Amino acid sequence: MTAPFAPAPYPLARPRRLRSSPWVRRMVAETTLSPSDLIWPLIVHDGAEDRVPVPSMPGVFRLSPKAAAEAAKEAHGLGIPMVGLFPNVDPSMKDTVGTGATDPDGLVPECIRAIKDAVPDIGVMTDVALDCYTDHGHDGVLQDGRIVNDPTLERLAEQAFIHAHAGANVVAPSDMMDGRVQAIREALEANGFQDTLILSYAAKYASAFYGPYRDAVGSARQLSGDKKTYQMDYANTDEALREVAMDIAEGADMVMVKPGMPYLDIVRRVSETFKVPTLAYQVSGEYAMMKASIANGWLDEDRAILETLHGFKRAGCAGVLTYFAPQAARLLGA
Ligand code: PBG
Repeated sequence: MTAPFAPAPYPLARPRRLRSSPWVRRMVAETTLSPSDLIWPLIVHDGAEDRVPVPSMPGVFRLSPKAAAEAAKEAHGLGIPMVGLFPNVDPSMKDTVGTGATDPDGLVPECIRAIKDAVPDIGVMTDVALDCYTDHGHDGVLQDGRIVNDPTLERLAEQAFIHAHAGANVVAPSDMMDGRVQAIREALEANGFQDTLILSYAAKYASAFYGPYRDAVGSARQLSGDKKTYQMDYANTDEALREVAMDIAEGADMVMVKPGMPYLDIVRRVSETFKVPTLAYQVSGEYAMMKASIANGWLDEDRAILETLHGFKRAGCAGVLTYFAPQAARLLGA
């Protein structure tokens, strides 16, 4: 005789009820993503053409100042609060100390002015570092084969001052020298720029994922060696907290974790520990990796974009720098 059939007990708790239709999923969503969360990095150049495609970053273009102003207008129309500027200058302009970084009539000041003329209400952020202007591709001053910290600080402080003077709202040191936030903050205070924000790339790791960017700004060919004596070792997390604590003490208003997707654990720890706006950068390699899969039909573009950007919000980000910014804003209905 077969044993009598005993029905399985009904589950009393059914989490699937909260997933059962779009309205309830929307109602109980813990995080939201909006165009206000997005910052659009723009690669700008001093070449003759308005838009030159970057081969390793399909869909990204090197823009003239005029085209950058148009992009800023587009961003503003989409509800994106800020654009960032990353320069590609002619190799003939580069030297060992990065003289071009402090040229008040250089490419970045010109772009800041063009954008502020066209769209006064958009935030403009600039990258403070020497790598786009040095013939060795490093972020600091090179002496006897070493990146020397303190002489670099003077250059960075002057660069930040020049950007603020041209109208930048946010200066973002990405160089990872010790003491740069303090040097920049003091230079800004001493020159009447109390209201200029500092977004420090506080936890910036030495990463393979910057490859396509170095292509885009033309620093890849020059780079001698690697950046491991100043950018962080990806084995570490406590060190990120120490860097962030120092930068806040030195006057940073916001901090950044970079790269993004492989470092969301760092975003989580930083945002929980410090309670200051924590941003992250979905960098060029992350963009290129996704674009390559999308081009092969292996990833669904729209869904992958929104899912990765939600991941940043879930980890505790106040904002995300992403080359997908305008596309994401459109997907969000902007
Ligand atoms: C350097 C800088 C880098 C990026 C922004 N600023 C690259 C580097 O440190 O070599 C990378 C951005 C990206 O990969 O999208 N000042």
